[in-house]
Amino acid sequence: MTESNAIDALQWENRRFPPSEAFKTDTLVAGTFMYDEADADFEGFWARQAAELLDWSTPWQQVLDWDLPFAKWFVGGQLNVSYNCLDRHVLAGRGDKVAILWEGEPGDTRAVTYAELLDETQRFANVLKSLGVGKGDRVNIYLPMIPEAAIAMLACARIGAVHSVVFGGFAAHSLRDRINDAEAKVLITADGGHRRGDVFALKPVADEAVASTPGVTSVVVVRRGGNDVKMVDGRDHWYHDLMAAADPICPPDPMDAEQLLFLLYTSGTTGKPKGIMHTSGGYLTQVAFTHKYVFDLHPETDIFWCTADVGWITGHSYIVYGPLANGATQVMYEGVPNYPDNDRMWSIIEKYKVTLFYTAPTAIRTFMKWGRQEPDKHDLSSLRLLGSVGEPINPEAWMWYHEHIGGGRCPIVDTWWQTETGAIMISPLPGATTTKPGSATFALPGIGTELVDEEGRAVARGGGYLTLTRPWPAMLRGIWGDPERYRDTYWSRFEGRYFAGDGAKLDDDGYLWLLGRVDDVMNVSGHRISTTEVESALVAHPAVAEAAVVGANDPTTGQAIIAYVTLRSGAEVDEQDLRTFVGNEIGSIAKPKMIYFTPDLPKTRSGKIMRRLLRDVAEGRNLGDTSTLADASVVSELQRRAADAPHDD
Ligand code: WTA
Repeated sequence: MTESNAIDALQWENRRFPPSEAFKTDTLVAGTFMYDEADADFEGFWARQAAELLDWSTPWQQVLDWDLPFAKWFVGGQLNVSYNCLDRHVLAGRGDKVAILWEGEPGDTRAVTYAELLDETQRFANVLKSLGVGKGDRVNIYLPMIPEAAIAMLACARIGAVHSVVFGGFAAHSLRDRINDAEAKVLITADGGHRRGDVFALKPVADEAVASTPGVTSVVVVRRGGNDVKMVDGRDHWYHDLMAAADPICPPDPMDAEQLLFLLYTSGTTGKPKGIMHTSGGYLTQVAFTHKYVFDLHPETDIFWCTADVGWITGHSYIVYGPLANGATQVMYEGVPNYPDNDRMWSIIEKYKVTLFYTAPTAIRTFMKWGRQEPDKHDLSSLRLLGSVGEPINPEAWMWYHEHIGGGRCPIVDTWWQTETGAIMISPLPGATTTKPGSATFALPGIGTELVDEEGRAVARGGGYLTLTRPWPAMLRGIWGDPERYRDTYWSRFEGRYFAGDGAKLDDDGYLWLLGRVDDVMNVSGHRISTTEVESALVAHPAVAEAAVVGANDPTTGQAIIAYVTLRSGAEVDEQDLRTFVGNEIGSIAKPKMIYFTPDLPKTRSGKIMRRLLRDVAEGRNLGDTSTLADASVVSELQRRAADAPHDD
């Protein structure tokens, strides 16, 4: 083991939050027994979870068949994923339990019970069959956040069809490429949905895409937006017409544990999006396990709310499959967090008495920007646990979340995982783990992580590359149509290990601190500095709401640190003071050379800051593709300011 300088760790956080006595009285896991059990025999551990959490129609013969990098879990076992998410709860007498408390953006609501969800899923499975969809066929889903998205996914699972959900914010060409890569037969979309007080049309975008997807023979359209749409005879069908005519019974056929459940496209650093493949038995085991134990789920009393869109992996695993497999009741919300006002999230929590709330750091920083008076308008005392996912959470954002949303009493689970991992990998267990603000803490039981340096040597303290050392049940099974790319992308950088692309650091207590993608590591005068650490230092200033940091080429220092900063509403700070502040926080090597103040940062539609674009702006390059941006105007404004900025060499 070495003390590594692969990435310099500059900032150490000393605040600690042990689980409270109140939380521990009724928690699922208070001690370390699960870690001990999994350490002794990780295959046996996952086998026990698979048996306890799921119903199998045929038991497996082999827990794991590992032919690096290709894994098969629960070999020979059979189950039906939709049966596990629906039928078994209804058969156990819980058909009247609400599965989804849905709230539309305009304020309309629906409470969908497990029995109703099962009924609609069976009918829609029959609809798919009538459109010629069989086992193994791909179905594309391009929908707003409405219960039909879950129904469509579960209906596919019921008959062994493979869904590929494309986020409703993607443009026609992105949808077209994903449909063509998957060679989908059917597209399920809606007329439109509600967003920011308006109706946004989906069907015309779908029409434009389907004009160049020769494989699509049918388009099913859910009515939601009420906007006018053109229906193509013979190809397009209204969902409600097909459902009214559909046979209500569709038995859940047993599927092989390794039956492909879905494809989900994620962008790589270069080239075309990768269709990440997830299968049935292992995936459902780990999402059910993590949803139960990371969120300390008490399905009889908890109201869970994950704010992700179903178009992302977080929506797949923690809106659809995890909560439904565990028989939970959850909130699903259609719209944006600031319609009609900046307190919409808090009003929903108060209204439905949400107990478990799972959101992203980018959202938390936005809430910080809007100010504490927004949550203060509402009674948030139902909350008992908070979660975070998608990016490193800066310690100050963690503290704000803890104090102003969690009322100082809720444990925070900072969960690290990826589209590729399928389910949470690194996270506290809330009743057992002492947390530190900004640290995702430890690998979950059964998961093997190790930090390594450039040469692949284990790092015991300090920064390094995050690798996964053994297979896990929800791991991706490959990239659709490209096994070589799968091996090259994930399994070739370090021999025998999965490299996630993220940097992390380990502190003296063995806590893991995620530092973002390693392509977000700057090299300043030979020091490898993580953008996350500088961002956290900036956000620690009381005037700063959000910060993005990039390394721009610099003739003297290799790279120079350039910061883009958004201030909290009403706050002011001088650039020089802020540089000094960062210097004091983490050392003068990390002082930004330039700081640009901006009302907004360029983000992808899933809320990740587009550092590549900021680097292009900082280096005065022409911008390439900005089509994945949520709001492209932010970048042109930044470019204008960069051109105007004085040079301080
Ligand atoms: C980042 C989202 C720090 C990371 C589930 C990862 C995180 C990428 C965290 C995957 C976290 C996710 N702390 N970074 N808690 N969670 N990330 O595929 O860089 O959309 O590799 O999956 O998000 O993003 P993806």
